[in-house]
Amino acid sequence: MQDSLSFAKERLEKKGFLDIDVDPTLDLEEAITRLKKEKNMILLAHYYQESEIQDLADYVGDSLQLAQMAERTDADIIVFAGVHFMAETAKILNPKKKVLLPDLKAGCSLAESCPAPVFKKFKEQHPDHVVVSYINCTAALKTLTDIVCTSSNAKYVINSVPEDTPIIFAPDKNLGAYLQKETGRENMILWNGACMVHEIFSHEKIVKLKLRHPEAKFIAHPECEPHLLEIADYIGSTSGLLRFTQESDAKEFIVATEAGILHQMQLKSPDKTFIPAPPNNMCACNDCPHMKLNTLEKLYLCMEHELPEIHIDPAIIERAKLPIDRMMEISEKAGL
Ligand code: 13P
Ligand code: SF4
Repeated sequence: MQDSLSFAKERLEKKGFLDIDVDPTLDLEEAITRLKKEKNMILLAHYYQESEIQDLADYVGDSLQLAQMAERTDADIIVFAGVHFMAETAKILNPKKKVLLPDLKAGCSLAESCPAPVFKKFKEQHPDHVVVSYINCTAALKTLTDIVCTSSNAKYVINSVPEDTPIIFAPDKNLGAYLQKETGRENMILWNGACMVHEIFSHEKIVKLKLRHPEAKFIAHPECEPHLLEIADYIGSTSGLLRFTQESDAKEFIVATEAGILHQMQLKSPDKTFIPAPPNNMCACNDCPHMKLNTLEKLYLCMEHELPEIHIDPAIIERAKLPIDRMMEISEKAGL
């Protein structure tokens, strides 16, 4: 084991995760539960994780809720079952704690769409603008940001900026366009990024599905394209969508977001039916390939060996924390 461990450590940077064979007879659920206790670890999971990971987590939530949990925890180690920007945010909020991510290559198409050096030049062309960045971005981009937001607090964040102050919103153009419409802000420039998962839905197939299920509510995440949001009965963050399905009298829902959320919807409302919105390709699923890089085996290895760990330059942490703190204050005031 020691040999394979040192070999795996050497290859960690290239692979992104500890590539070690796990005994197939090992009860991974039992091992993960034991490690959490033994090492005083908190396991945070996003709604888009595999259901088996969600079921083991101490807390399952959306991007804001997970950041809030990471900020409040007194655990010694934070294990983040999510993507890189989420674990980075947890580290920025807890620079002294060890933050682990089962696979460092679990990225995000939105974060990738907005490289900090390119954005810096763009920002320099608009020196009078306030920069609001969606949390789905790198720590480097957060250092160029005035206020961070998530999909559940974005309207409050935009409304916190004086009306006559122009805004650069990065990196999600769909969320940005939705916010422009909702808040009536015209002085907002949008970065041209998008989420690969939320841009895959087929308008045509959804319209047909709605006709076949006339009683079903069509609900969508604001990362979806405007023409889809136009036909939605409800638009909200993952936690908002989940809440809506619990509170609504409807019995059937067509859900336009990553399919992992359906697990919690079904758990919370076992008598209701949830139909994943169909994508516009031949593939039947709308899984996020980044989120789904985390597996139970990688999670176990990461907790056992406390690797891979998130490391961020302290100067970046110091600057990137400011816009996150502002977001946290706005969220608290809004009761989120
Ligand atoms: P929320 O967690 O804010 O709903 O965002 C969804 C998402 O795409 C996370 O990557
Ligand atoms: Fe990024 Fe989209 Fe995956 Fe969320 S679902 S992590 S926004 S690529």
